Amino acid sequence: MAGHTSSTNENQILSTDGLKKSFGGVMAVDGLDISIEPGELVGLIGPNGSGKTTTLNLITGFLSPSDGEISLDGKDITNKKPYEVSTLGVGRTFQISKPFGRLTVVENMMVPNVSVGPEERDERIWELLEELHLDHVAENRADELSGGQKKLLELARVLMLEPELILLDEPAAGVNPALMDEIIDDIKRINNRGTAILVIEHDMSVISALCERVIVMNAGRQVMSGTFEEVQADDQVREAYLGGT
Ligand SMILES: Nc1ncnc2c1ncn2[C@@H]1O[C@H](COP(=O)(O)OP(=O)(O)OP(=O)(O)O)[C@@H](O)[C@H]1O
Ligand SMILES: [Mg+2]
Repeated sequence: MAGHTSSTNENQILSTDGLKKSFGGVMAVDGLDISIEPGELVGLIGPNGSGKTTTLNLITGFLSPSDGEISLDGKDITNKKPYEVSTLGVGRTFQISKPFGRLTVVENMMVPNVSVGPEERDERIWELLEELHLDHVAENRADELSGGQKKLLELARVLMLEPELILLDEPAAGVNPALMDEIIDDIKRINNRGTAILVIEHDMSVISALCERVIVMNAGRQVMSGTFEEVQADDQVREAYLGGT
């Protein structure tokens, strides 16, 4: 991208530049510069209230920034609407899973507006339900699923649109340990197929199992970015983490 300064790199799938969001007097995100490369699997950690979910809401257009810019594949997507961002190839899941409870699992999978015909859509639905071990509950209502199965359904639904980047907000929260390893494997497999993933998570065993790089946030800013080992060894990070939780 000729004419752009050093912080923008056309190799980056996603970058935020001076991103800010205030809620009244609270600066939830306070000048955040982060970036993700195609195919990367990056963790986003930080104490409660450090601005992780707000960052995801800004990237996906659920909130509009007070200041700063967001770009996807070098194109400005600041202030785009959620459906536009998802059409451009960014999928997300929520900290509290939000499947349509009264719809069945299969019906939930039909919600995304895919650009293929009904046959190909059904094929994609069943492939994903099998892959994420939801085929045996396909006709169940979504509100009958376990916490972990709801997370898997959200992930499966996001995959219907074949995103190039997926943002996961605490995929392990409320998931029983038996299903946890499966979810970790699923996320790894999806990433290995080339999809970039940014995962917010408090469970450090999940972060260490998954992430090649970890971004640490505190008070709306990036404190550090490095491998899990580097981040874990950093005194400032440990202080920020322990100070806030
Ligand atoms: N819609 C909102 N209105 C007002 N304040 C908000 C809103 N959303 C978030 N905040 C505030 O912004 C700050 C950052 O919140 P955010 O949810 O982004 O944190 P988080 O890092 O995701 O925390 P957690 O780990 O607990 O999920 C907090 O002080 C929070 O209270
Ligand atoms: Mg959060």
